[in-house]
Amino acid sequence: MQMLLDCDPGIDDALAILTLLREPVDVIGMSAVVGNVPVETGFRNLRDLAAFAGRADIPVFRGAELPLVRDYTFDPTVHGVDGLGGARIPASPSPRQEEHAATAIARILRASKEPVTWVATGPLTNVALALRLDPSLVDKVSRLVVMGGSTLRGNVTPAAEFNVYVDAEAWQSVLSSGIRPVMVGLNVTHMVGMTEEDFAVAEGIKTPVGQVARAMLAFYREVHEQGGWGEPKLHDVVAVLGAISPELLETRPAHVAVETGSALTYGMTVVDEREAPERCNCDVAVGVDAAAMRARMLKALQSG
Ligand code: BDR
Ligand code: CA
Repeated sequence: MQMLLDCDPGIDDALAILTLLREPVDVIGMSAVVGNVPVETGFRNLRDLAAFAGRADIPVFRGAELPLVRDYTFDPTVHGVDGLGGARIPASPSPRQEEHAATAIARILRASKEPVTWVATGPLTNVALALRLDPSLVDKVSRLVVMGGSTLRGNVTPAAEFNVYVDAEAWQSVLSSGIRPVMVGLNVTHMVGMTEEDFAVAEGIKTPVGQVARAMLAFYREVHEQGGWGEPKLHDVVAVLGAISPELLETRPAHVAVETGSALTYGMTVVDEREAPERCNCDVAVGVDAAAMRARMLKALQSG
């Protein structure tokens, strides 16, 4: 399987990346977008994580600095000022790529000889830009799996999930591109939280990757405790593993629309499962094998 990953690392993005890079997947490029942290910070984290996992060979690109239409305000509460909860990772020795993520993604997709699985675990700004640059890229993508939205409640606001809230116009643009995303929203990612047993397993992982993961998880756990949010949620890990192993997710066809006009519900994903099949524009995750996902992530962290 060939895969492109667009992300905003971010603690759960970082856990997803470290997991992905231990899976038998041909990762043909990774890109950073504004979101959990400013894009320059996310780009640095992404480059460093790739090198740390022994994959400095994967091309890594810096993408959008701002959402398509709205302004961006950085809030370090959930992932810390550096995006990784203070976990220390050596700087990548590989040269910095200067090509913008949107053009790089378009170039890589065009050149690909086989359909590519595209995963996005941050706001959809880079994805939207690439599809606006070249709408024919839709034909090069086997699946676009996105972490974002919700069939139920939001997290940033009662209505909106973070990734959509940062750039709802990008979501709208992607939904109108003709591509049919798999939406992995809070309704399933909230089922996949780190349990006390998982933390005990993580404590025992002595590999360098495991030590970094433990440091990130300790910060993330503290933030969840302070917020009263329950078990630390592995949102982006769910999207990445769901892309690699679709059998771990249960999906249903639905029509998804995104609110961009209302101050109260900006970024809300309005999921209509009543629609006729020909009107559906998304496959929405409604179930997940949470135990398998958590075990797979922990196994990956043990192996590097
Ligand atoms: C999403 O928002 C970010 O904070 C996480 O990295 C995840 O992608 C969850 O709402
Ligand atoms: Ca993310």
